[in-house]
Amino acid sequence: MYKRLLDNLNTAVLLFDSDLKLCYLNTAAEILLADSARQLLKISAEQLFKLSDAAFVSNLKHCRDAGESLIDYALELNRVGNQSVFVNVSLTPLEKNEIIVELLPIDNRLRISQEEQLHAQQNAACLMVRGLAHEIKNPLGGLRGAAQLLDSELSNAELKEYTQVIMEEADRLQGLVNRMLGSNELPNKQQLNIHEILERVRLLVQSEANENITIRCDYDPSIPEFLGDKNQLIQAVLNIVRNAVQAISDSGNVILKTRICRHATIERQHYKLALRCEIIDDGIGIAPDMLNKIFYPMVTGRVEGTGLGLSIAQTLISQHQGVIECHSEKGRTVFAIILPIIFQHNSI
Ligand SMILES: Nc1ncnc2c1ncn2[C@@H]1O[C@H](COP(=O)(O)OP(=O)(O)O)[C@@H](O)[C@H]1O
Ligand SMILES: [Mg+2]
Repeated sequence: MYKRLLDNLNTAVLLFDSDLKLCYLNTAAEILLADSARQLLKISAEQLFKLSDAAFVSNLKHCRDAGESLIDYALELNRVGNQSVFVNVSLTPLEKNEIIVELLPIDNRLRISQEEQLHAQQNAACLMVRGLAHEIKNPLGGLRGAAQLLDSELSNAELKEYTQVIMEEADRLQGLVNRMLGSNELPNKQQLNIHEILERVRLLVQSEANENITIRCDYDPSIPEFLGDKNQLIQAVLNIVRNAVQAISDSGNVILKTRICRHATIERQHYKLALRCEIIDDGIGIAPDMLNKIFYPMVTGRVEGTGLGLSIAQTLISQHQGVIECHSEKGRTVFAIILPIIFQHNSI
């Protein structure tokens, strides 16, 4: 009866005897340790966890000898033949020098703090770029105005060519600065269907791309409408899908995939419903050293790139309380946009 109860717990529970040999583990513990009870029973604590977990073993001894309960936060456990896992460990002494051990994995928490750090860095970089863009914008307006005046005073066509060059280049820079500053418009949120946005982007990009590139869709029709700014979301998805197409040299596939997620935590906020929209391509992939930089403004791997596409997409998605994740290996790159589904009456 107790065994059934323990096996239905989500918490991993282990029982060590007075010789620090494992004498019981529940199903959650088997899953966490990625091994079966048959393999693990009777092995010693030292064997079960490799040397880097000396702290764990000495805590076990302390708990047994002093008869005191202990909680160990963020301990790294190397599972036998497997990657490590971060856990909070609670040790409780029982009669006969036995010890009950509860392991609570904390991957999630670590991931959240890493995300936060990345976010802070990105914010700092964005602020710098915006500051710089503002500084450029004003003198640029002056330069262009002066060139235009000069142009109207000149009668010599050859000299006019020079003023034309100044104006054209000033306009090009102006365009770049505007893109760096992003849109000033406030989001105009309305009820949206994610697939309407994806279909718009698909048509747009398909018409630009060569015919050997196929853009396919794999949609989850159960995703409900949510509150969002249509133009901003089209822009964000467009930037990512364009990159995917550019990563394919001759021929290849881009897949637009959507799925619903229940009970998602995004940036520490819990939502009952969220959607996951993946843009998957089989292009060249992203080099590992580029991977953690690509969301910064002005970082580009392409000769004609501006490095603004992803940083703009990131800003727009975070204005919708969402995040963008990226995984890449040769031949398969996935950008995932995760957006909370927020309804009109803000029922989170
Ligand atoms: N799907 C992808 N496959 C391979 N590389 C990509 C992909 N998406 C983005 N990248 C890399 O990230 C860089 C930054 O992208 P982005 O911010 O849109 O700027 P840009 O497209 O102007 O270079 C790209 O230059 C490219 O090197
Ligand atoms: Mg781009």
